[in-house]
Amino acid sequence: MRLPLWPASLAGRTAAVLLIGLVLVQGAGLTIHALDRLDVQRLAQMRDLAFRAVGLYRTMILTDPVHRAHVLNDMHRSDLGAVLSPVPPSVDMPEMPPPEQRLLRVHMNLLPVGAPAMRWQDLVIYGGGPMRSVVLGMRLPDGQWLNVTAHLEPLRPWHSPTFLVAFVLMTLAAALLTLWTVRRLIAPVRVLAEAAEGLGRDVNAPPLPEDGPSEVRTAAIAFNTMALRIRRFVQDRTELLTAIGHDLRTPITRLKLRAEFVEDDEQRAKILGDLEELEAMVSATLAFGRDARTTEPLSPIDLPELLRTILDETGDAWPDMQDRLRYEGPSHLTVQARPLSLKRAIVNLITNAIHYGGSAAVRLSVPDPGAVLVEVEDDGPGIPPAELDRVFEPFHRGEPSRSRETGGVGLGLPIARNIIRAHGGDVALANRSAGGLRVTVTLPV
Ligand SMILES: Nc1ncnc2c1ncn2[C@@H]1O[C@H](COP(=O)(O)OP(=O)(O)OP(=O)(O)O)[C@@H](O)[C@H]1O
Ligand SMILES: [Mg+2]
Repeated sequence: MRLPLWPASLAGRTAAVLLIGLVLVQGAGLTIHALDRLDVQRLAQMRDLAFRAVGLYRTMILTDPVHRAHVLNDMHRSDLGAVLSPVPPSVDMPEMPPPEQRLLRVHMNLLPVGAPAMRWQDLVIYGGGPMRSVVLGMRLPDGQWLNVTAHLEPLRPWHSPTFLVAFVLMTLAAALLTLWTVRRLIAPVRVLAEAAEGLGRDVNAPPLPEDGPSEVRTAAIAFNTMALRIRRFVQDRTELLTAIGHDLRTPITRLKLRAEFVEDDEQRAKILGDLEELEAMVSATLAFGRDARTTEPLSPIDLPELLRTILDETGDAWPDMQDRLRYEGPSHLTVQARPLSLKRAIVNLITNAIHYGGSAAVRLSVPDPGAVLVEVEDDGPGIPPAELDRVFEPFHRGEPSRSRETGGVGLGLPIARNIIRAHGGDVALANRSAGGLRVTVTLPV
């Protein structure tokens, strides 16, 4: 189940769990503290009330009944109301709740003030509980009642007003510490994710620093070892490819020499043509291997500038195509790229558009802040849907382009895709509804 506000990141989730825990623990702590304080205050109030009521009671016992009212008036009673009456107090209040009442009774009978112990029926107690006033009726030994009214101070869950401020500040400090710690602890995961992403773009990306806590160090070492193996694997493959290409050159040259001795002119021409095609494939393979080995650093380039340069150079190479080349888009936009490789990739796409589509319209746009889109469109026949994926396979050429005229070997698209993927982007082909092919290149900014 997905909670709507539940954070998506590991750091966010960890922080959320810890913060919820912190709030629960602090809330429970505050409640326990407040309940304890309320208990202590209640106890103190009961003791105080018991002490003062018993004091009055004792004085009344020791006083002649005739003078009692007079003495009672003269006594300092602060906020305690007291009257003598022939009957117990009659008030519109419930009896004091049992736990509190028992507490008060015990206190009144335990106080060492020298008064005779009060029997249960000689004492009635009303109020208490959530009500802050208490009415006590105490029967004196001669049957008269001493009725006392007391107003208790409201209970406060904490004593000083700064307590709550200090408590909130303490909780905030703990929350900040939690957030900071989580960020620090999760940082290596982010670094690892970025490194994995970087490795996808460039197998020669610099290794991760192998430091920090032991788990992070172990993960970094494992990652670097994996990157090294991938690098070696890729290197071995390209070296194998170039070695084969290299070794094929000598027999091809030999065959070309031998072909010269073929008597039949037509056969000789065909054999030489095939051998030339083979040679072109071998040199393309060698160039491909060379590209894979040279690692050009990423640098900021002005993409529109690069596109216009390519179009200009294409126009110079095919002067009759000049008015069929177009650029549309912003005049300046800086992206991080490997200038020579990216140029080769786009040249391959534009050359294809010219060869197979007879025109090239290049459009640059920035659909969202994280990516730029380069579209290369032509007015040719497009590519049959079934072929759309296969044209990216090395040496795959469409049937009509088999003729030697275009001079291609079928490495243009695979090379372009390799380069663009190494930049963290991708390339897609689609047939336009108006006819012709649209090649869409996405590049991260
Ligand atoms: N714009 C296009 N319109 C129609 N077909 C295309 C287009 N671009 C590529 N193709 C088809 O895809 C095939 C593969 O293209 P790719 O660029 O990989 O090789 P190539 O152009 O044949 O040779 P190279 O580019 O190595 O000289 C081409 O042979 C062609 O059939
Ligand atoms: Mg091509």
